[in-house]
Amino acid sequence: MRRRVLTAVGATGYDAPRMTRPLPLKNDRVLRAFRKQPVDVTPVWIMRQAGRYMPEYRAIRAKADFLTLCKTPDLVTEATLLPIDLLDVDAAIIFSDILIPVEAMGMELVFTDARGPQLPKPIRDRGDVERLKAFDPETLTGFVMASIRQTNRALDGRVPLLGFAGAPFTLATYMVEGETSKHFYRIKRLAYEDPSLLHRLLERLTGVVAEYLVAQVAAGAHAVQLFDTWAGALSPDDYATWCVPYTTRIVDAVKRTGVPVVLYVNGSGTLLEAMADTGVDVISVDWRVDLADAKRRVGGRVALQGNLDPCALYAGPDVIRREATRVLEKYGPGPGHVFNLGHGILPDIPVPHAKALVTAVHEESRVYHRSGA
Ligand code: CP3
Repeated sequence: MRRRVLTAVGATGYDAPRMTRPLPLKNDRVLRAFRKQPVDVTPVWIMRQAGRYMPEYRAIRAKADFLTLCKTPDLVTEATLLPIDLLDVDAAIIFSDILIPVEAMGMELVFTDARGPQLPKPIRDRGDVERLKAFDPETLTGFVMASIRQTNRALDGRVPLLGFAGAPFTLATYMVEGETSKHFYRIKRLAYEDPSLLHRLLERLTGVVAEYLVAQVAAGAHAVQLFDTWAGALSPDDYATWCVPYTTRIVDAVKRTGVPVVLYVNGSGTLLEAMADTGVDVISVDWRVDLADAKRRVGGRVALQGNLDPCALYAGPDVIRREATRVLEKYGPGPGHVFNLGHGILPDIPVPHAKALVTAVHEESRVYHRSGA
């Protein structure tokens, strides 16, 4: 791509005194695509790009359990940089977890190898919601902001750094179910039996997530992604009730800082229009959605991110190239596409397959950006 020195945050970003002044970026393809500006090739990053599929990540994890890793800026920086060095992706995403602010609100949280995140004392009644601690991002999750500052120094402007948070509904599923759920019976039961209590919980989480993301931007995040991973369990009407109002308020707060906001839902096929109604800049779609259909439905309002089936990376480089090309063809020519998987990369994917995807996207997408930057 043409090497230019440019700034990542709009003019408003510089006016706020507590903003960390962003370094000039050498590769800003992802930010340009988020804003539907022309690019030379389609940018690509991979959800969960620093993770157990990488021997180098497993070596870092041998030194610390997962939560300790998330709270140690030196290790976070090391993990966040791995995919930049090993895969040549166009964005870094700060290494952390969506449940970090939930723990900061006073809920006990453990990560187990076999069953993932566990919250042994889930929310059961109004008292449990009222007992949640008031949140302050710098005092309770200062290690995230310190990690963002340190990672940006280490990146030295090579690529933008993405911040992220779980959206209120998805965080509430963990707080009410106590773990990753398959059918979400407990939170849906709460929605029917005591809607005002679920609204109260989502209200609390909305304030937390908005403050948390604004703090990440102030620390130097160039864009943020909101993960509403489990909102795909909801009907369109229920998505409008339990997600749209809260997500809209978070998007408003973050957009005031001037950075783009991405919204991801796994299983968003029936929800795309409502997701676009929240005012987000980018919708990240899973593999069940036809990208051409998504572009027709909401492509006028938002940029799109996605959406290769993570299982495609089990195949070798030739199949990966064919499948990546199929996704690129679906989006077609023109700006506004950031390539990604439809969900996180799986823990048993060979690293060379991830690298083959990045190479194929960069090479095969050039034809769609002939008049690009
Ligand atoms: O994308 C990245 O590389 C940044 C890091 C990141 C992690 N979790 C690291 C992680 C991000 C963006 C997340 C978000 C997250 N966490 C989501 C939303 C995105 C999604 O995948 O749907 C959710 C639902 C969680 C909750 C969570 N954390 C689960 C369900 C698990 C267990 C499953 C698993 O993959 O182990 C985690 C643990 C977790 N988060 C790991 C990593 C690298 C594995 C922990 C380990 O090293 O043992």
